[in-house]
Amino acid sequence: MANSSAIRPVTAAQVRADFNDLRAVLHYTKAAHNLGLWASERLMLERILPPPPAADYPILEAGCGAGRVSVALHALGYQNLTGFDFARELVDQAGSLAAERRASITFHHADATKLNQHPAFASVGRGSVGPGSAPVPGAALGVPPEAPTSVPSGFAAVLFLFNGLMQIPLRRNRRRALRQLAAVCRPGAPLLFTTHDRDHSPSERASWRLEAVRWAEGKQDPRLREFGDRRFEDHCGDTFMHLPNRAEILAELAATGWTHVEDHLRRDLAKEPRPVRDFSDECRFWVARRAESPLA
Ligand SMILES: C[S@@+](CC[C@H](N)C(=O)[O-])C[C@H]1O[C@@H](n2cnc3c(N)ncnc32)[C@H](O)[C@@H]1O
Repeated sequence: MANSSAIRPVTAAQVRADFNDLRAVLHYTKAAHNLGLWASERLMLERILPPPPAADYPILEAGCGAGRVSVALHALGYQNLTGFDFARELVDQAGSLAAERRASITFHHADATKLNQHPAFASVGRGSVGPGSAPVPGAALGVPPEAPTSVPSGFAAVLFLFNGLMQIPLRRNRRRALRQLAAVCRPGAPLLFTTHDRDHSPSERASWRLEAVRWAEGKQDPRLREFGDRRFEDHCGDTFMHLPNRAEILAELAATGWTHVEDHLRRDLAKEPRPVRDFSDECRFWVARRAESPLA
């Protein structure tokens, strides 16, 4: 795997293949089954969501992976949950876990940058989820007939947790995803997501100063497309991640129909236990609200 992607610039197809890789599937499935919500996630979710069951409050989870967040929200009592991910293997795992826990969550196989082309989302915010809506078969098993399948006025809140937005290569594509998410939400809907932060510590800042020199000299890793990109390999396989600074995210929100509300480094929200710190590095939580009319 690492060989075939060694010198080619990273693409969305490569990122998707990385997430469908058995090592990644095992990693995220294990977390969905055993880890659940981080303390910081729970705190921020309590801040932005009404208390459960919130049956009239459709929540959308983008980049749901194997269902870690959606299934945990269902366990807290939330009743109106939809998740999607562009890695088929992970969505299948999310559907299986929901079925196992008897959780009525609708999961879709969809790309955040192409929601307007997906039958389940194309008409959201402009009508109901279309008749062509096709939850993945595994997920359907976990959805009793009474489960909500339509969101005529759009989703009331959207989540993109554990840095999924930053795993979309190229700034223009991340902006496209933010616009597409705004388009399926109600005006005022909160968006909660996380990113890394290039400035979160002195050592991080120092390493990015060195990286800036490499880019200035044209000596950066040829697989990378933009300054801030990183590609690495570990026990969960190959991973692409764009690491922004705070100014970059503020600009992305302003350009895509979202109004920034607040942002916090995770360490300022909660002291996470060891298993969470092993699963995930320091990150920044962002809350934005959908503007009155999303930008086209
Ligand atoms: C770091 S994983 C987090 C998974 C899950 N949210 C969790 O916290 O365990 C990021 C997820 O974002 C998904 N993702 C990345 N780009 C995506 C896109 N364009 N559309 C939908 N999902 C995407 C990946 O497939 C992956 O499941």
